[in-house]
Amino acid sequence: MLRRLHPEQPDSFAFTDANRKWAEAQITKYPEGRQASAVIPLLWRAQEQEGWVSRAAIEHVAAMLNMAYIRVLEVATFYFMFQLQPTGSIANIQVCGTTSCMICGAEDLIAVCKEKIAAKPHTLSADGKFTWEEVECLGACANAPMAQIGKDYYEDLTVESFTEILETLSAGKVPVPGPQNGRYAAEPKSGLTSLKEYEAGRPQYNASAQLAVDIGDTVQRIDGTEVPLVTPWLDGSDQATPPATPPEPAPAAMTRDEVADEQIARPEEGAVAPEPASGQKPEGLAEARGGAADDLKKIKGVGPKLEKLLNSMGFYHFDQVAAWTADEIAWVDDNLEGFKGRVTRDEWVAQARKLADGSE
Ligand code: FES
Repeated sequence: MLRRLHPEQPDSFAFTDANRKWAEAQITKYPEGRQASAVIPLLWRAQEQEGWVSRAAIEHVAAMLNMAYIRVLEVATFYFMFQLQPTGSIANIQVCGTTSCMICGAEDLIAVCKEKIAAKPHTLSADGKFTWEEVECLGACANAPMAQIGKDYYEDLTVESFTEILETLSAGKVPVPGPQNGRYAAEPKSGLTSLKEYEAGRPQYNASAQLAVDIGDTVQRIDGTEVPLVTPWLDGSDQATPPATPPEPAPAAMTRDEVADEQIARPEEGAVAPEPASGQKPEGLAEARGGAADDLKKIKGVGPKLEKLLNSMGFYHFDQVAAWTADEIAWVDDNLEGFKGRVTRDEWVAQARKLADGSE
């Protein structure tokens, strides 16, 4: 399945104040220089807030984490949990279509989705309240067929009970999650055959359903005010401390060529990022010799953005790059904002030597 950004995009995205504070707190969980590790939690919170992940949200998260847009786009398009198109204002219905659920009636549930929501998945219903999709096994096979709605599971579904759930949600109410056929959890339909002593005094619903009822956020959009922000990793403070160094803005949106450059420059599996080093700045030129700069984009891993950056540092020619010493490589690697370590990783100097000699 191709996962692309939706053709219709909002002009902007911003976290609510509480969500921004939460996001900044997540970033403090990671050591300096590793803030990109927070990309999935931040994208997920953006989706919890808006219902889906827009291009503007991707760019916003990239800016917060000082990541190139393409890197965040790669994450958002790779994981199916991120919705790349608007979802229903009430809920996106995820029907499990894998073996146990299929055998037990998932296809009938999907037929309900097609009839009541939209003929095709990822399409808003006429009233905008719902979207639906078929998903892979959600790990509740003993309660097949089932669907995830918002944060919770609705299990042991039939066409009738599923239809009723959709109608209840449409009316603005939230049905109790869990088994819908009278089972408490995943015990035999005819009742418990063991551990019967635990039947008395148990909560009204099984643990998952009870928690869902207690929290009550099954299909709620999250604005960050739902629970107090607690940050025990920051000495128990309930206030997030912003990162020591404010994140720098991410590079501007990339053209297709730049995206291609970025993809070409993807590190080999197992590649180790170079250690930051101060090094020594190579001597640069005020301008290209004879007013004719070499096409530095011929160096694999250098795109238009990097070429511009190199020119701004005074590097215009292959022979300049080819002459960099280890100390100078370390300096350039450390000063390529947003692209640190590329000189070493993509072996620019070796490439530049060949290009300076006239080879391709
Ligand atoms: S097959 Fe549907 S939850 Fe596992």
